[in-house]
Amino acid sequence: MRSILVTSALPYANGPIHIGHLVEYLQTDIWVRFQKLRGNRAIYICADDTHGTSITISARAQGCSEEEFIAEMSEAHQRDFAGFDIEFDNYGSTHSQENRAHCTTLWKALRDAGMVVEKEIEQLFDVEAETFLADRFVRGTCPNCNSTNQPGDNCGNCGATYSPAELIDPVSTLSKSRPEIRKAVHLFVQIEQLHDFLEDWTQSGALQTESANYVKNYFLHEPLQDWDISRPGPYFGFEIPDSPGNYWYVWFDAPIGYMASTTQWCQANKESFDDWWRSPDAEIHHFIGKDIQYFHTLFWPAMLKTAGFSLPTKVHIHGFLTFDGEKMSKSKGTFIRASNYLKHLDPAYLRYYYATKLSHKIDDLDLNREEFAARINSDLVGKVVNLASRTAKFVAGTGLSAEYPEDGGLFAEAAAQGDAIAEAYEHCDYSRAMRLIMELADKANPYIEQNAPWELRKDPAKGKQLQDVCSVGLNLFRQLAIYLAPVLPQLAKQSGDLLDAPVVSWDDAKTPLTGTAVNKFKHMMQRVDPKNIEAMIEESREEASTAHRDTDVSPVDSDEALKAEPIAPEITIDDFAKVDLRVARVLAAEDVPDARKLIKLTLGLGGEERRTVFAGIKQAYDDPKQLVGRLVVCVANLAPRKMKFGTSEGMVVASGPGGKEIFLLSPDSGAQPGQRVH
Ligand code: MSP
Ligand code: ZN
Repeated sequence: MRSILVTSALPYANGPIHIGHLVEYLQTDIWVRFQKLRGNRAIYICADDTHGTSITISARAQGCSEEEFIAEMSEAHQRDFAGFDIEFDNYGSTHSQENRAHCTTLWKALRDAGMVVEKEIEQLFDVEAETFLADRFVRGTCPNCNSTNQPGDNCGNCGATYSPAELIDPVSTLSKSRPEIRKAVHLFVQIEQLHDFLEDWTQSGALQTESANYVKNYFLHEPLQDWDISRPGPYFGFEIPDSPGNYWYVWFDAPIGYMASTTQWCQANKESFDDWWRSPDAEIHHFIGKDIQYFHTLFWPAMLKTAGFSLPTKVHIHGFLTFDGEKMSKSKGTFIRASNYLKHLDPAYLRYYYATKLSHKIDDLDLNREEFAARINSDLVGKVVNLASRTAKFVAGTGLSAEYPEDGGLFAEAAAQGDAIAEAYEHCDYSRAMRLIMELADKANPYIEQNAPWELRKDPAKGKQLQDVCSVGLNLFRQLAIYLAPVLPQLAKQSGDLLDAPVVSWDDAKTPLTGTAVNKFKHMMQRVDPKNIEAMIEESREEASTAHRDTDVSPVDSDEALKAEPIAPEITIDDFAKVDLRVARVLAAEDVPDARKLIKLTLGLGGEERRTVFAGIKQAYDDPKQLVGRLVVCVANLAPRKMKFGTSEGMVVASGPGGKEIFLLSPDSGAQPGQRVH
């Protein structure tokens, strides 16, 4: 008997579980159920990942404390998982005493090994929100292509990467204020010290081939980069014991949460933690998505190795879910929350459908709504449940035949396939397992059709024959239900209830039931009605469009600006056409020393066409040189106006109330000077 500790990645506590997550939790749950059915000692360990800036922001938005926020989210997550029959042996939280204790142990080991160094780095600080800003909480103008409203780490327009401190006109998405650059000391882990170990370990068979090959790139050219492991407070997390004011970065304590959750399970079950995490006799299997490989294949093994814990036996990596061939989308309604799915559809459908899609490959998998309905209806309803629904009622009174009847070798053949199916499960090749099982179903169904129990029952002389045919049908059904039990635990239970024989072991499929009672047949599974899929998508779409805010995208905008300046009276399109707006490049920008507000701009509209414009933007753009080269929008047909310092031949278009709060408009990149703005 193997001892197998299995984890799924710890879901972030800053949002609900969606059908993308479920790829992973279902993949893992199926594997654990399979191991248990095989008689192995397996435990499924998970927890919520609760630390970091985004939790603080979500909590503030809801007007509650971080602790309240994560408690509520943990409850919601666990409700969703239970709704999909995902059964953890322990579901913990990274915000636990057990986790703090393990973090301290691992930290001490890293310190003792001389792997921790201090470095001063520059980071943007939001003065109003009083917090350092993670990259995704800053937006500004790309220093490379000048396109505005770009995130703090790389430009969505030109693809350039940069540090948030390099952004032009950075704005905090938290307070909408301009953050300042502050220096802070961060602690780094020098994982380069484990370069050789990691290079070997990642090629040692713990990773799928694709992933092992991918990871090779990390080791090719440069030393492994030091890992920035601390954040200055305030930060929702654990303060580092020997570095007051600094906190462990969320990705340090998150994987340690696997251990903390194990500790809770061990305490509840009177087991020893070391039997799982320090014993060569226990296997450790992590299931994760491809987006978090780096953490699990480099940092995490480095930490474990340094502190003398067992290394993962396997890291199983899966791809991402797409819906109808596209990225899940909130506006299309395909970003479906687990709780929304459960309102409309049977969780067994998704469990089975994902199983038909999952293999040991890292490729993305697609949920196609037509295929989804067709698979369930033809496989589960049409081939599996049908075996029982067409036979059980005829033997409810008599029970199964005392001896297993002659069936042309069907039962024996299906029993012999058990090993091949088990091997496919073991290697996470569920799609193959499902194919093998459906091949068996494809052989069982013709048997029922040819022997037509609904005809036999009309002839009282054929009572024994009827009982035999139904006994075969029900035994073949039961075999399939056992093989499908890791995927469809409810079906296994229904089969157990129907035949008074609960499914407890994989080997139950080897021996037919004889002479036992058959209970009244209860409905097992409904056909998928495509209308319910549409209703689910419609509801997701509505949720997305009525949601007041989308915490992980951008905070809600205030109506302050509109109140300060209400929308002007209606105009016709002809009125608008009179204003000739053009894209222009700032060719020169000079300070006008005697003017409090003005900067003198020379705008190029392409070729020799120029405009001199005196723009009242000095307080917002105190260094005129920073404007040179960028594209702006100007009013090109405005009557020239004589001013004290010269003639202004147009206007540049900007928003904002004035003073320091002026924001020049720029076109997206690709626009050319001289183009008209319509
Ligand atoms: N909190 C981290 C994991 C820490 S593990 C020590 C995290 N959380 S997550 O909620 O964003 O994702 C949890 C898991 O779900 C990850 O393994 C991730 O790859 C997976 N998935 C999230 N969205 C997914 C899809 N759309 N498709 C498939 N898996 C997806 O990452
Ligand atoms: Zn750019």
